[in-house]
Amino acid sequence: MGAPGVATHFVADVAAAADLACDLLIAAVAGGARRVGVATGSTFAPVYRELARRAPSWDDVELFLLDEYLGLTDDDPRSFRHTIARQVCEPLSIPPHRLHSPLDLACDAENAAGGYEAMLAAAPVDLQLLGIGGNGHLGFNEPGAPVDSLTRVVALAPRTRADNAPFFGDHSGDVPEQAITQGLATILRARRIVLVATGARKAEPLARALTGPVDSAMPASVLRLHADACVVADADAARLLPSPRLAEPIAP
Ligand code: GLP
Repeated sequence: MGAPGVATHFVADVAAAADLACDLLIAAVAGGARRVGVATGSTFAPVYRELARRAPSWDDVELFLLDEYLGLTDDDPRSFRHTIARQVCEPLSIPPHRLHSPLDLACDAENAAGGYEAMLAAAPVDLQLLGIGGNGHLGFNEPGAPVDSLTRVVALAPRTRADNAPFFGDHSGDVPEQAITQGLATILRARRIVLVATGARKAEPLARALTGPVDSAMPASVLRLHADACVVADADAARLLPSPRLAEPIAP
């Protein structure tokens, strides 16, 4: 366990970020990580494409969704389960029962969230992959989410629904209004965290997360409370950072 602080890896572009994220991920599994938390979104599509190209043999790796929409049908290809199944499980031959979602728990959403939290508390993930929202969200922990928040049902911010509209035919009105997300405290329980940020849209939230105050107005700032978190950022996303190799540690 190191001192709190976020190691930053700056790379040139999206392809280099995908490459480095895969290096980190594959090295973690080679080093014994068996429970991997997976994020979805446009940032991770190139990461998972590169992972599929490398096709490591992950015979005993279990995957855990970071979050999932509520209100989609079981067979909706836009659900995060189906997205990870397509992008990760199929190319790596990981059977469906090794991809875990809160919606596996056959009960109402509130109880499913509680059950998923209990499962993750009993055995935290070894490595959690994260993206960052345009408003600084982690998973679907929108600005204002408490640092001690657990897995729960949340309402999506209008900006998040607009950001995710491209996955829904550009109609933000079709983006679900609710989701289940791991909480910030759940995320911080991961042994190791790798956040990937690419593109100019992430420059402002990333700079605020790494150099502004640690508070719930900027959910991603809580990474600085973790002992083993790192950020992989391309040049566009790192544009507003004061080129640190290691962001300043900040006391909680
Ligand atoms: C989404 C997801 C997050 C994701 C983030 C960034 O809404 N809930 O897990 O990391 O927002 O998404 P993108 O990579 O598409 O910018």
